[in-house]
Amino acid sequence: MSSSANSTLLCSTEDVETETKQLALVGYGKMGRLIEQLAPEYGFQVAARLTGKSNPAASGITREAFANIDVAIEFSTPETVVENLKRLAQTNIQTVTGTTGWSKHLNEVSDAVKQAGTGLVWSPNFSVGVAIFRKLAGLAAELLRDEPEYGAWAWEIHHDAKKDAPSGTLLHLVETMRQHGYTRNINVSANRAGMHPGTHEIGFDSAADTITLRHAARNREGFARGALKAARWVLDRKGVYTFEDVLFGTARG
Ligand SMILES: NC(=O)c1ccc[n+]([C@@H]2O[C@H](COP(=O)([O-])OP(=O)(O)OC[C@H]3O[C@@H](n4cnc5c(N)ncnc54)[C@H](OP(=O)(O)O)[C@@H]3O)[C@@H](O)[C@H]2O)c1
Repeated sequence: MSSSANSTLLCSTEDVETETKQLALVGYGKMGRLIEQLAPEYGFQVAARLTGKSNPAASGITREAFANIDVAIEFSTPETVVENLKRLAQTNIQTVTGTTGWSKHLNEVSDAVKQAGTGLVWSPNFSVGVAIFRKLAGLAAELLRDEPEYGAWAWEIHHDAKKDAPSGTLLHLVETMRQHGYTRNINVSANRAGMHPGTHEIGFDSAADTITLRHAARNREGFARGALKAARWVLDRKGVYTFEDVLFGTARG
């Protein structure tokens, strides 16, 4: 672990005196670059940036290259994330990942993190608003599960470069509805067009009326800020967590 001068950290509503930590960006595309811009506000100095070219098959993640790194934020691709996360754990690096489209490998990655004794926060969506939206979707599903006249849908739209469809966020919303006892069909659909930063919608429709819950992201900044908040949180934690653990509290692992 590295140490350096103290700085004043802007932490949403209050200024907190904190030690500057060294941050590695694994994936330096749209999200990585935005996180770099905002990192000083969260007490981070960006000390490493890895891309597909500098990190083929996770080969850029070595003990030497990461000797001074306190935490990594990983926003890469569904094809590269699993190898990156396993290598980061084996290199003893605390990690936050926002990459989507890899949830079927969660057990494999969790085993690597637990074996290494490191900490990982993962989420297909680092927006505070979406985390609250998911709680509302769960509550609505619970209230409507015994009202058979209502049919349900789940829909999202994102920019046309987004590779996974439906999004991890939409699938997580549907799973939350299921966990709250909604067993009837949920019609799921997705659109990819233009530059859209992301809208998710959960709806219930009956002969009498329609209930619509909608979250619309204005830009990517909320995701970047959430990932940076999670990176401060995971610095001294062991185990595998989601962004909801960061926001709504959990015991230290
Ligand atoms: N959780 C959230 O809140 C949230 C929000 C927005 C986006 N996302 C997700 O985050 C991911 C990245 O999004 P983005 O918009 O930043 O994508 P992007 O602009 O396409 O950037 C992807 C980056 O990953 C790099 N990369 C490719 N292979 C790599 C490897 N082996 N190691 C390290 N980096 C590698 C690319 O480098 P090259 O250019 O050299 O290939 C590029 O810098 C996507 O899965 C997206 O769906 C999640």
